[in-house]
Amino acid sequence: MEDRLGSIEEEALRAIEEAKDKDGLEKIKVRFLGRKGLLTEILKGLGRLPKEERPKIGRLANEIKFKIERAITERLDAVLKEAGPRVIRGFDPTLPGRPLPRGHLHPITQVLDEVCEVFERLGFSAAQGPEIELDFYNFEALNIPPDHPARDMQDTFYVDDKVLLRTHTSPIQVRTMEVMKPPIRIIAPGKVYRCDSDITHTPMFHQVEGLMVDEGVSFAHLKGILTHFAQEIFHRDTKVRFRPSFFPFTEPSAEIDIQCVICRGDGCRVCSYTGWLEVLGAGLVHPQVFRHVGIDTEKYSGFAFGLGIERIAMLKYGINDIRLFFDNDIRFLNQF
Ligand code: PHE
Repeated sequence: MEDRLGSIEEEALRAIEEAKDKDGLEKIKVRFLGRKGLLTEILKGLGRLPKEERPKIGRLANEIKFKIERAITERLDAVLKEAGPRVIRGFDPTLPGRPLPRGHLHPITQVLDEVCEVFERLGFSAAQGPEIELDFYNFEALNIPPDHPARDMQDTFYVDDKVLLRTHTSPIQVRTMEVMKPPIRIIAPGKVYRCDSDITHTPMFHQVEGLMVDEGVSFAHLKGILTHFAQEIFHRDTKVRFRPSFFPFTEPSAEIDIQCVICRGDGCRVCSYTGWLEVLGAGLVHPQVFRHVGIDTEKYSGFAFGLGIERIAMLKYGINDIRLFFDNDIRFLNQF
């Protein structure tokens, strides 16, 4: 019996050593240790042995059983390692994942948000209006009658006689004052449309409109708020200049320049050697606009301003062609 066990052990260990894969090892396990395995049969037949031999043979058989089990486990480890990473139908779950490229907001959206946040911190809240607008809100109510030369300044896309694509965000001033009574403090970002296209103009661009109406609002408030705005967006000590200008819906009107961000005022190509860059149109709300919306011009006054987001973004990032924002070339966009 001892010899028989010895040869089973030898046979099993050799087979294990030679096994090439998991299946092979599985078969060996069944053959020797399975329910009808060679070793199992011997253990089951222990009762038939002479009493004196049973403990010795039993112990020996069990020792061999453990040896075979350990040998199988060790060989299985080695076999799996040799086989390398497990491949399930061409997909290897052990490889590290491929990182997905992460997107980000368009530079125009980023600047738009940044501009709005400056005013929101000052207590202005966001307002909206339609991009397909009535002539009335885009022009008439803003003191621009049909034959007014100011209509030529803005190359309008008309839908029909009375409907157009808004040429600026100023109609939101009127729409807001129709439904809201002073005190009013709003900021209105949005797309506007003009039939124009070159390196500084695109047929669609973004503006942000601001409007504040209350008792005693003066040009000094306008100046303070816009100076603060320029310094938040550009540089803490950016200088600001107010130049007299004309808009039919504000009186007095001004255009606001900032000190050139490129040459800091010395004069360069970007600022046409003036040292200044125009960034905003603004003024005190014209009484004619107040009359259209029924606001008492004796009691209330207000200011309004409008700025172009693309222009601010170009100055902020030193971009010389506005069309880059709309080409959607990922190499350009990825820089923001
Ligand atoms: N709407 C004007 C424009 O598009 C800008 C502006 C807004 C001027 C508000 C004065 C007040 O040019």
